Amino acid sequence: MDAKSIKEEKAELEIWQYIFGFTPVAVVKCAIELEIADTIESHGGAVSLPDLASAVCCSPSALGRIMRYLTHRGFFELHESTHKYSNTPLSLRLLLKNGANSVAPFLLMEASPEMLAPWHRLRASAAPGGGSAFRAVYGEDFWDYASQNPAVSKLFDDGIASHATRAICEIIERCGDVFEGIGCLLDVGGGDGTTLRYITEACPWVRGINFDLPHVVCVAPQIRGVEHVAGDMFKHIPEADAVFIKWVLHDRSDDECMHVLKKCREAVPKETGKVIIVETVIVEGEEDEYSDTKLALDMVMMAHTEKGKERTFEEWDCVIKGAGFSSYTVKHIGSIFSIIVACP
Ligand SMILES: C[S@@+](CC[C@H](N)C(=O)[O-])C[C@H]1O[C@@H](n2cnc3c(N)ncnc32)[C@H](O)[C@@H]1O
Repeated sequence: MDAKSIKEEKAELEIWQYIFGFTPVAVVKCAIELEIADTIESHGGAVSLPDLASAVCCSPSALGRIMRYLTHRGFFELHESTHKYSNTPLSLRLLLKNGANSVAPFLLMEASPEMLAPWHRLRASAAPGGGSAFRAVYGEDFWDYASQNPAVSKLFDDGIASHATRAICEIIERCGDVFEGIGCLLDVGGGDGTTLRYITEACPWVRGINFDLPHVVCVAPQIRGVEHVAGDMFKHIPEADAVFIKWVLHDRSDDECMHVLKKCREAVPKETGKVIIVETVIVEGEEDEYSDTKLALDMVMMAHTEKGKERTFEEWDCVIKGAGFSSYTVKHIGSIFSIIVACP
């Protein structure tokens, strides 16, 4: 077969992935809502279709088709000898509604009607002179919308927190030395404080200040060693030995990033302070296993924020230097995140 016909054959197969591209998300969401993975666990790790159908109140034939699809995609295993389904690492990570290590709340948030609506208006974000898909739907930006809709705010905070658990454990494991010698660590836009919960547990010498918008911190749980402080990072950032800021700057324009980073720089001691930025770095022309996710995340920024974006190394360089930092280092930790440590 010549190169042209190989490409045509590949295209013929790929078109179906786009035409029915919504299917995996919709079925996974359905499985989380039905608590299929949780039910399998509560039945000792293996359950037959009739028992599962009765436990999750479903028609056995419809549930059988859902299980066939999800088993085909690696979510469950069907054991031939017992005719029972068991979970796989994928279902335990993504489908368990009530698992400490599960990111099901993240999927439920991204796949919610509220967060999906702006995707139908994505074109608005590509308007000449700039526009926003989120604003085209809701008439305001996400943060204002969330501050007036507690259910959406909770959906978002729970979703982000479920991922933060995994992310901060990876960061502590791969570059935990970044927290050495820090007495007081301020997490700017720290959400419900999950990140600081893990940092203060792993590094007991650290005292945490979780800084976020009033509607977020007022419902955040109490955490030993962590103080919640409400505020607006564009107005004032409290002083600390070091600032941690993860997945906050990508929501913002370059000018907004420089404004916030300048305030972060001024909040830490000039000689010994540091600002630890955890974000995606897009490396153009260099593909790795996370490239697709990083580029997808950039589209999420387009759908859900006003001027947010995932940045290349060169774009981060501009923003960090523009905020007046004297030096910085970048460490790629083999995930969607890189750790940028900037010195005032
Ligand atoms: C994408 S979430 C990231 C949360 C957390 N850092 C994490 O990675 O798990 C962005 C956070 O920034 C907070 N935020 C947005 N605007 C803010 C502002 N003006 N001042 C303080 N926090 C803000 C949001 O409430 C939200 O918790």
